[in-house]
Amino acid sequence: MTQAPGSRIYSRIAGTGSFLPERTVTNDELAKSVDTSDEWIRSRTGIRERHLAAEGQTTGDLGYEAAIRAMEAAGVSAADLDMIVVGTTTPDLIFPSTACLIQARLGADGCAAMDVNAACSGFVYALSVADKFIRCGDAKTVLVIGAETLSRIVDWTERTTCVLFGDGAGAVVLKADSETGVLSTHLHADGSKKDLLWNPVGVSAGFNGVEPNAGARIIMKGNDVFKYAVKALDSVVDETLAANGLDKHDLDWLIPHQANLRIIEATARRLDMSMDNVIVTVDKHGNTSSGSVPLALDTAIRSGRVQRGQLLLLEAFGGGFTWGSALLRY
Ligand code: UT7
Repeated sequence: MTQAPGSRIYSRIAGTGSFLPERTVTNDELAKSVDTSDEWIRSRTGIRERHLAAEGQTTGDLGYEAAIRAMEAAGVSAADLDMIVVGTTTPDLIFPSTACLIQARLGADGCAAMDVNAACSGFVYALSVADKFIRCGDAKTVLVIGAETLSRIVDWTERTTCVLFGDGAGAVVLKADSETGVLSTHLHADGSKKDLLWNPVGVSAGFNGVEPNAGARIIMKGNDVFKYAVKALDSVVDETLAANGLDKHDLDWLIPHQANLRIIEATARRLDMSMDNVIVTVDKHGNTSSGSVPLALDTAIRSGRVQRGQLLLLEAFGGGFTWGSALLRY
């Protein structure tokens, strides 16, 4: 793409989509298999139910469904795509990337395709990568997907984690525009906190004492993660506003990572924002990691709550630790 001297290119959201697998599992259903209750899960997390992928249904399948909805909303075809970036920590395969698998299904052969693994911050990281490619003029149209099948790495006998997670995907089509869309993105990580939220099964690091057939599973010190997440998100929302010379009251919507309603409420308090201006979908699907922000965004746009021209703050926090934000005018 050529750029006229002096002109600036921004990336704007042209369309969004999302997809949740059909099967839902309520808190009461979970309480039949582990020592928990609907009351505990709702009061500590805000989650009422989660969706689980069917046998054989993969992250790529969910991401593909979200992608075609986003492309339809944006009015773009596979041939228009210059790049596909998928945020996921539960890829279909070690390789090819889930982005390549989705590219093949879309028939978008030839465009660049890659996965970004930043755990629950995967979508915000992927959005930031796509935004940079558009701003520098290397891409005009980028499909950004956040998709996960966390149910495959949840220990369903461990009540401290199994009640939290679910499967789902969301997607946006970003297009180059002379008007501002994404104003800034801010990404951070702290790898020293690895052991507070991780999955010990690897490739190069081997199985870390986990029996190969016992399966990978999420291990989390929930309360430590909670405290760190609240502080990190407070800091990144302050950083985002400062970088743009904006006041917290300028924001129209907070579209947060959907992990825990209490974390979302803490960020809203920091922003002096009424919960009426916060998109909450965690009750419907639990923590879908990279899927959560684009799922919430798509829900908000399709319901008509988020309108063109409004200022949106997206944020996420996840394993790594990783965290980040994106400020954009829709
Ligand atoms: O997206 C990636 C980032 N991840 C997150 O953001 C998750 C962050 N953490 C959290 O959301 C919360 O820490 C949890 C929801 C995981 C836990 O809530 P908490 O208020 O921090 O509870 P806790 O871990 O301090 O546990 C309180 C009690 C414990 O019992 P005792 O020791 O007080 O007797 C737990 O054993 O709740 C118990 N407990 C449960 N009880 C019923 C833990 N899980 C359950 C459960 N049902 N599912």
